[in-house]
Amino acid sequence: MDGNKLYIRGPQRIQGELLVQGSKNAALPILAATLLGKGIFILHHCPQISDVEHMLELLIDAGCKVHWEGHMLIIDTRTLQNYRVSGNGAGKMRSTVTLLGSILGRMHKVEIPYPGGCTIGERPINLHLKGLEQLGAVFEYQEHTLCGTVDFLHGAQIYLDFPSVGATENILLAAVLAEGITTIHGAAMEPEIVELVCFLRKMGAHISGEGTPVLLVEGVKKLHAAEYIIPSDRIVAGTYLFGALMTRGEARLLHVPLAHLGTLPELLERMGAVVEAEDDWIYVKMERQCSPIPYLVTAPFPGFPTDLQSALLAALSTASGTSFIEEKIFEERFQIVAELQKMGASIANGDSFALIDGDAKLHGATVEAKELRGGAALIMAALAAEGETCIQGMEYVQRGYEDINKDLLSLGIVIYCT
Ligand code: UD1
Repeated sequence: MDGNKLYIRGPQRIQGELLVQGSKNAALPILAATLLGKGIFILHHCPQISDVEHMLELLIDAGCKVHWEGHMLIIDTRTLQNYRVSGNGAGKMRSTVTLLGSILGRMHKVEIPYPGGCTIGERPINLHLKGLEQLGAVFEYQEHTLCGTVDFLHGAQIYLDFPSVGATENILLAAVLAEGITTIHGAAMEPEIVELVCFLRKMGAHISGEGTPVLLVEGVKKLHAAEYIIPSDRIVAGTYLFGALMTRGEARLLHVPLAHLGTLPELLERMGAVVEAEDDWIYVKMERQCSPIPYLVTAPFPGFPTDLQSALLAALSTASGTSFIEEKIFEERFQIVAELQKMGASIANGDSFALIDGDAKLHGATVEAKELRGGAALIMAALAAEGETCIQGMEYVQRGYEDINKDLLSLGIVIYCT
């Protein structure tokens, strides 16, 4: 890697075994949750990615102490004193918003920079605020800052219009210390919600229903510190699995909870791969050209994740026929199309759909990662392409992939640097 660029000379075949890094989307809300208890927390298998570093800056800014020992992260929240989140990391990361619920829960007052849109779309927070208001919070805006206060948090019956992952997390974080019972109807069922619930339970929270659309929270007076193992990242795993399909390769990914992959193994089989899996590993082998997928729509878990849509799009551009993908979660998720076209892919897209011709002979080009998941998908396309590809904008990829060079080396790929 040269600065923010990565050079890959293809075609290369993925072939190897990898212990998959810890999950970004599980780690970030768990980090927010540590603020709810006073004590020393220990998180194992925590990914060292820039989004986690930014979240830690905010925790430090709020008065916590943090220390890394390899991938073990130690957080001391006993000295938390600041309800204002203003550190450098605040504006860089959407998940700052998850601090609303936890800081309100612990300090009854919170101030965060008002979260704007991001590169994959508008990303409103109306459902977060509505849920927290039902628990007793009051919000106002002051010069780009969202300020929340609450006299006392109380349980409520909350109905979410959409199973928003972030809103479910925020409401859970505030409800665990609220007085009485909170029921979240229409809650998100993503594995990251299940992980957050398991972590909060280790802190002493009373919650049931995780992994279903109805979450029941019985508020407790106090939470304590806990130790936890962050699961491996299902999206990182999925990226490399699609990479293996595109390169007619073979990969064994370890420490991946199969339950977190939802229907992905079946989809890989439909595309022509041989798949073997047990509770915590998955193996794929691809010996032929990918089959097309006539129709696929992104959806909340257990549906196909929006975070893997770009990697699937890249894989389908080399499939033996026409595929159609509908994007239902985020409006700006097709920014990768123009970049794949530079590599020879034949894709037509509207705001919420892409029609992929397939059969493309991808070739090297200079392309730009414009967001995290699209960037990783371009790297997979570069492996399958003939010639040299330069991927610019690698800082986006580093938000979620700890060391993609090292991962690719384990998977038998040679990174070419100029
Ligand atoms: C989303 C993904 C999650 C992924 C994460 C990081 C889904 C359902 N969620 O979570 O799997 O890990 O991005 O990339 O796939 N919305 C509102 N109002 C709100 C909140 C959300 O209208 O207050 C809408 C959004 O505009 C979007 C949809 O709900 O269309 C999904 O949002 P949500 O699940 O909240 O997004 P994240 O929590 O960021």
